[in-house]
Amino acid sequence: MGKLQNKLALITGGGSGIGRAVAIAFAQEGADVIICGRTVPTLKETVREISQKVGRPAFWKVVDVSKEKSASELARFIEKKWGRLDILVNNAGILGFMISIEKYPFKEWKTVLQANLDSVFLVSQKMIPLLRKGKNSIIVNVTSTVGSQGRKLWGAYSVSKFGTEALTQILAQELESIRVYSINPGGARTSMRAQAYPQEDPKTLPTPEEVAKAFVYLASSECALKSGERLNARDWLGVKK
Ligand SMILES: NC(=O)c1ccc[n+]([C@@H]2O[C@H](COP(=O)([O-])OP(=O)(O)OC[C@H]3O[C@@H](n4cnc5c(N)ncnc54)[C@H](OP(=O)(O)O)[C@@H]3O)[C@@H](O)[C@H]2O)c1
Repeated sequence: MGKLQNKLALITGGGSGIGRAVAIAFAQEGADVIICGRTVPTLKETVREISQKVGRPAFWKVVDVSKEKSASELARFIEKKWGRLDILVNNAGILGFMISIEKYPFKEWKTVLQANLDSVFLVSQKMIPLLRKGKNSIIVNVTSTVGSQGRKLWGAYSVSKFGTEALTQILAQELESIRVYSINPGGARTSMRAQAYPQEDPKTLPTPEEVAKAFVYLASSECALKSGERLNARDWLGVKK
């Protein structure tokens, strides 16, 4: 019996990178999985892989999580088909420009904050009524090392992740029946990481599949964290670097 048997999970940005690995890992643990993103082929491919590997259907929907209308449509889709949600993983995000604040274009600043922070607000808000109907429901917000320590040239991305940490703590205090966590994946072998560190050898990094184990832990009954707390995936996995 899987650790997430009978659970219904929504993973934003589930078509690629960490989100994709989390979707597959959750399905392998018995969860029904819904993934969303803006790119149809990657969503379809992930769903196909889940049905092949796990032998159960998964579901996808094109959603821009930075848009209120899109987030509302996603909530309506889930309400109509299942009437509840047990696990929400706010994973979708973009890196944005890696330049100084002095040179940061305001347009890009807004795009990053909308994709990384407005999205967590919007999707969480729209899903709360569904999560209230779920069982032992949780929200997992994906953050970053630069979400608790500002770092030069990480501009809007860093600020968006600080905001995500704050939202996690606020939601944890406001929601009694829903536990809320943040998770810092640490450096993982994805296209976003390669964009941030083009000189780095990706083979030195944990794979998204390894990192996904920490997400399974958070979503399972084994999780010993208190609502509002943050899990450092690298520490949890015992990764040295
Ligand atoms: N990889 C790392 O080393 C690392 C470290 C710390 C934190 N993180 C965090 O981990 C999360 C996943 O990152 P990753 O490395 O897996 O990156 P990734 O491979 O670039 O994946 C990001 C995902 O987010 C989706 N997305 C982006 N904007 C979206 C939007 N407006 N609406 C819907 N979906 C959107 C993308 O799909 P579409 O483009 O199709 O929409 C994609 O599937 C992010 O929150 C990131 O900040 C990653």
